[in-house]
Amino acid sequence: MTRTFFVGGNWKMNGSVAAVSTLVDGLNTASLKQGVEVVIAPPALYIPAVQSSLKAGHVAAQNIYSESKGAFTGEISAEMLKDVGVQWVILGHSERRHVFGETDELIAKKAKHALGVGLKVIFCIGETLQEREANKTTEVVFHQLSAVAQVVSDWSNIVIAYEPVWAIGTGKVATPVQAQEVHHDIRVWLKDHVSPQAAENTRIVYGGSVNAGNCQEIGRQADVDGFLVGGASLKPEFADIINAAQ
Ligand code: G3P
Repeated sequence: MTRTFFVGGNWKMNGSVAAVSTLVDGLNTASLKQGVEVVIAPPALYIPAVQSSLKAGHVAAQNIYSESKGAFTGEISAEMLKDVGVQWVILGHSERRHVFGETDELIAKKAKHALGVGLKVIFCIGETLQEREANKTTEVVFHQLSAVAQVVSDWSNIVIAYEPVWAIGTGKVATPVQAQEVHHDIRVWLKDHVSPQAAENTRIVYGGSVNAGNCQEIGRQADVDGFLVGGASLKPEFADIINAAQ
Protein backbone atom coordinates (compact mmCIF):
# COMPACT_ATOMS: atom_id res chain seq x y z
CA MET A 1 0.00 0.00 0.00
CA THR A 2 1.26 3.50 -0.84
CA ARG A 3 1.05 5.74 2.19
CA THR A 4 -0.47 9.16 1.37
CA PHE A 5 2.06 11.89 2.11
CA PHE A 6 0.93 13.89 5.14
CA VAL A 7 1.90 17.47 5.97
CA GLY A 8 0.66 19.03 9.19
CA GLY A 9 1.02 22.66 10.13
CA ASN A 10 1.15 23.21 13.88
CA TRP A 11 0.66 26.92 14.49
CA LYS A 12 1.11 26.46 18.25
CA MET A 13 0.07 29.58 20.17
CA ASN A 14 0.41 31.90 17.19
CA GLY A 15 -2.11 33.74 15.01
CA SER A 16 -4.65 36.48 14.84
CA VAL A 17 -7.76 37.13 12.79
CA ALA A 18 -5.59 38.95 10.25
CA ALA A 19 -2.88 36.26 10.26
CA VAL A 20 -5.43 33.50 9.72
CA SER A 21 -6.71 35.34 6.67
CA THR A 22 -3.20 35.87 5.28
CA LEU A 23 -2.04 32.29 5.89
CA VAL A 24 -5.17 30.64 4.52
CA ASP A 25 -5.27 32.94 1.49
CA GLY A 26 -1.64 32.01 0.85
CA LEU A 27 -2.46 28.30 0.90
CA ASN A 28 -5.63 28.78 -1.18
CA THR A 29 -3.73 30.61 -3.92
CA ALA A 30 -0.58 28.45 -3.87
CA SER A 31 -0.03 25.82 -6.54
CA LEU A 32 -0.09 22.71 -4.32
CA LYS A 33 0.82 19.17 -5.35
CA GLN A 34 -2.21 16.92 -5.57
CA GLY A 35 -2.58 13.85 -3.38
CA VAL A 36 -0.91 15.31 -0.30
CA GLU A 37 -2.97 15.25 2.91
CA VAL A 38 -2.72 18.69 4.51
CA VAL A 39 -3.91 19.33 8.06
CA ILE A 40 -3.67 22.75 9.72
CA ALA A 41 -3.69 23.04 13.53
CA PRO A 42 -4.47 26.65 14.54
CA PRO A 43 -5.12 27.68 18.11
CA ALA A 44 -8.62 26.44 19.01
CA LEU A 45 -10.13 29.95 18.83
CA TYR A 46 -9.27 30.16 15.14
CA ILE A 47 -10.42 26.67 14.09
CA PRO A 48 -13.80 27.88 12.73
CA ALA A 49 -12.14 30.67 10.70
CA VAL A 50 -9.62 28.27 9.14
CA GLN A 51 -12.25 25.58 8.65
CA SER A 52 -14.60 27.93 6.78
CA SER A 53 -11.93 29.39 4.48
CA LEU A 54 -9.30 26.69 3.82
CA LYS A 55 -9.95 25.12 0.40
CA ALA A 56 -7.45 22.23 0.32
CA GLY A 57 -7.00 20.56 3.66
CA HIS A 58 -8.47 19.82 7.04
CA VAL A 59 -8.04 21.32 10.49
CA ALA A 60 -6.83 19.79 13.71
CA ALA A 61 -6.99 20.82 17.33
CA GLN A 62 -3.68 21.03 19.16
CA ASN A 63 -4.98 19.18 22.20
CA ILE A 64 -8.04 17.86 24.00
CA TYR A 65 -8.79 16.67 27.50
CA SER A 66 -9.39 12.98 28.15
CA GLU A 67 -12.96 13.33 29.40
CA SER A 68 -16.21 13.99 27.49
CA LYS A 69 -17.40 16.94 29.56
CA GLY A 70 -17.49 18.38 33.08
CA ALA A 71 -15.59 20.50 35.56
CA PHE A 72 -12.34 20.85 33.61
CA THR A 73 -11.98 24.61 33.26
CA GLY A 74 -10.13 25.71 30.15
CA GLU A 75 -10.28 22.37 28.40
CA ILE A 76 -12.06 21.23 25.22
CA SER A 77 -13.28 17.72 24.46
CA ALA A 78 -13.08 15.32 21.55
CA GLU A 79 -16.88 15.44 21.39
CA MET A 80 -16.79 19.22 20.92
CA LEU A 81 -14.36 18.85 18.03
CA LYS A 82 -16.65 16.30 16.38
CA ASP A 83 -19.59 18.64 17.04
CA VAL A 84 -17.96 21.40 15.00
CA GLY A 85 -16.71 19.07 12.27
CA VAL A 86 -13.04 18.87 13.24
CA GLN A 87 -11.54 15.50 12.28
CA TRP A 88 -7.99 15.64 13.72
CA VAL A 89 -6.22 16.30 17.00
CA ILE A 90 -2.53 16.51 17.89
CA LEU A 91 -1.71 14.58 21.07
CA GLY A 92 1.48 14.12 23.04
CA HIS A 93 3.26 17.10 21.54
CA SER A 94 6.61 17.74 23.16
CA GLU A 95 5.34 21.00 24.61
CA ARG A 96 2.36 19.24 26.20
CA ARG A 97 4.81 16.77 27.75
CA HIS A 98 7.64 19.06 28.79
CA VAL A 99 5.89 22.38 29.39
CA PHE A 100 2.54 21.15 30.75
CA GLY A 101 3.73 17.88 32.29
CA GLU A 102 1.49 15.47 30.41
CA THR A 103 2.38 11.85 31.13
CA ASP A 104 2.46 8.93 28.71
CA GLU A 105 -0.56 7.55 30.55
CA LEU A 106 -2.63 10.73 30.18
CA ILE A 107 -1.69 11.01 26.51
CA ALA A 108 -2.68 7.39 25.96
CA LYS A 109 -6.01 7.99 27.71
CA LYS A 110 -6.61 11.03 25.48
CA ALA A 111 -5.72 9.02 22.37
CA LYS A 112 -8.10 6.20 23.30
CA HIS A 113 -10.89 8.70 23.94
CA ALA A 114 -10.26 10.71 20.77
CA LEU A 115 -10.16 7.60 18.57
CA GLY A 116 -13.21 6.26 20.36
CA VAL A 117 -15.32 9.24 19.30
CA GLY A 118 -14.04 9.01 15.74
CA LEU A 119 -11.25 11.57 15.64
CA LYS A 120 -7.95 10.96 13.88
CA VAL A 121 -4.85 11.45 15.98
CA ILE A 122 -1.45 12.94 15.20
CA PHE A 123 0.54 11.22 17.96
CA CYS A 124 3.82 12.95 18.78
CA ILE A 125 6.86 11.18 20.20
CA GLY A 126 10.53 12.07 20.50
CA GLU A 127 13.58 12.15 22.70
CA THR A 128 15.43 15.00 24.40
CA LEU A 129 19.03 15.86 23.52
CA GLN A 130 20.17 14.30 26.80
CA GLU A 131 18.34 11.07 25.97
CA ARG A 132 19.83 10.98 22.47
CA GLU A 133 23.32 11.61 23.77
CA ALA A 134 22.77 8.76 26.22
CA ASN A 135 21.78 6.49 23.28
CA LYS A 136 18.27 6.16 24.68
CA THR A 137 16.35 7.40 21.61
CA THR A 138 14.65 4.12 20.72
CA GLU A 139 14.08 3.25 24.38
CA VAL A 140 12.24 6.56 24.83
CA VAL A 141 10.13 6.46 21.68
CA PHE A 142 9.26 2.79 22.18
CA HIS A 143 8.09 3.58 25.71
CA GLN A 144 5.93 6.42 24.39
CA LEU A 145 4.47 4.15 21.71
CA SER A 146 3.84 1.35 24.22
CA ALA A 147 1.69 3.56 26.42
CA VAL A 148 -0.76 4.04 23.54
CA ALA A 149 -0.49 0.42 22.33
CA GLN A 150 -1.63 -0.74 25.78
CA VAL A 151 -5.02 0.95 25.28
CA VAL A 152 -5.37 1.22 21.48
CA SER A 153 -5.40 -1.73 19.07
CA ASP A 154 -6.58 -0.04 15.87
CA TRP A 155 -3.87 2.32 14.57
CA SER A 156 -5.57 3.05 11.24
CA ASN A 157 -6.54 6.56 12.36
CA ILE A 158 -3.19 7.45 13.86
CA VAL A 159 -0.37 9.39 12.20
CA ILE A 160 2.84 9.12 14.24
CA ALA A 161 4.95 12.29 14.36
CA TYR A 162 8.54 11.66 15.36
CA GLU A 163 9.71 15.03 16.70
CA PRO A 164 13.09 14.96 18.42
CA VAL A 165 12.76 17.54 21.17
CA TRP A 166 16.25 18.88 20.41
CA ALA A 167 15.12 19.78 16.88
CA ILE A 168 11.88 21.56 17.77
CA GLY A 169 12.17 25.30 17.30
CA THR A 170 15.97 25.15 17.38
CA GLY A 171 16.98 25.18 13.72
CA LYS A 172 18.91 21.95 14.45
CA VAL A 173 17.03 19.66 12.09
CA ALA A 174 17.70 15.93 12.23
CA THR A 175 19.79 14.69 9.35
CA PRO A 176 17.99 12.55 6.78
CA VAL A 177 19.91 9.53 8.11
CA GLN A 178 18.94 10.28 11.71
CA ALA A 179 15.28 10.67 10.74
CA GLN A 180 15.25 7.51 8.63
CA GLU A 181 16.92 5.44 11.36
CA VAL A 182 14.29 6.30 13.97
CA HIS A 183 11.38 6.10 11.53
CA HIS A 184 12.55 2.63 10.49
CA ASP A 185 12.86 1.56 14.14
CA ILE A 186 9.32 2.84 14.79
CA ARG A 187 7.99 0.90 11.80
CA VAL A 188 9.68 -2.29 13.00
CA TRP A 189 8.25 -1.68 16.47
CA LEU A 190 4.75 -1.35 14.95
CA LYS A 191 5.25 -4.65 13.10
CA ASP A 192 6.36 -6.44 16.24
CA HIS A 193 3.93 -4.87 18.73
CA VAL A 194 0.81 -3.96 16.72
CA SER A 195 0.67 -5.75 13.34
CA PRO A 196 2.42 -6.01 9.97
CA GLN A 197 -0.51 -4.10 8.48
CA ALA A 198 -0.11 -1.25 10.97
CA ALA A 199 3.60 -1.13 10.19
CA GLU A 200 2.92 -0.95 6.47
CA ASN A 201 0.02 1.49 6.58
CA THR A 202 0.78 3.91 9.41
CA ARG A 203 2.20 7.27 8.28
CA ILE A 204 5.28 8.23 10.27
CA VAL A 205 6.05 11.91 9.74
CA TYR A 206 9.05 13.94 10.86
CA GLY A 207 8.88 17.20 12.82
CA GLY A 208 11.56 19.53 14.13
CA SER A 209 12.93 22.57 12.28
CA VAL A 210 11.56 21.46 8.91
CA ASN A 211 11.82 24.15 6.24
CA ALA A 212 11.80 24.54 2.47
CA GLY A 213 15.55 23.98 2.38
CA ASN A 214 15.73 20.66 4.21
CA CYS A 215 12.38 19.00 3.49
CA GLN A 216 13.28 17.46 0.12
CA GLU A 217 16.12 15.29 1.41
CA ILE A 218 14.28 14.21 4.54
CA GLY A 219 11.08 13.59 2.58
CA ARG A 220 12.93 11.22 0.24
CA GLN A 221 13.71 8.78 3.07
CA ALA A 222 11.91 5.45 2.73
CA ASP A 223 10.16 5.60 6.11
CA VAL A 224 9.41 9.31 6.16
CA ASP A 225 5.79 9.82 5.11
CA GLY A 226 5.58 13.57 5.60
CA PHE A 227 6.10 16.31 8.12
CA LEU A 228 4.65 18.05 11.12
CA VAL A 229 5.79 21.64 10.74
CA GLY A 230 5.87 24.39 13.34
CA GLY A 231 7.52 27.71 12.55
CA ALA A 232 7.66 27.23 8.78
CA SER A 233 3.87 26.56 8.68
CA LEU A 234 3.41 30.23 9.52
CA LYS A 235 5.34 31.29 6.41
CA PRO A 236 4.74 31.10 2.64
CA GLU A 237 7.42 28.36 2.46
CA PHE A 238 4.87 25.95 3.97
CA ALA A 239 3.56 25.48 0.41
CA ASP A 240 7.06 24.41 -0.67
CA ILE A 241 7.12 21.84 2.10
CA ILE A 242 3.77 20.45 0.96
CA ASN A 243 5.14 20.28 -2.59
CA ALA A 244 8.19 18.35 -1.37
CA ALA A 245 5.88 15.34 -1.14
CA GLN A 246 7.50 12.28 -2.67
O1 G3P B 1 4.65 20.08 15.92
C1 G3P B 1 5.68 20.56 15.09
C2 G3P B 1 6.64 21.36 15.86
O2 G3P B 1 6.90 20.85 17.13
C3 G3P B 1 7.94 21.57 15.12
O3 G3P B 1 8.30 22.90 15.34
O4 G3P B 1 9.16 25.09 14.64
O5 G3P B 1 10.71 23.10 14.84
O6 G3P B 1 9.04 23.21 12.97
P1 G3P B 1 9.37 23.62 14.39
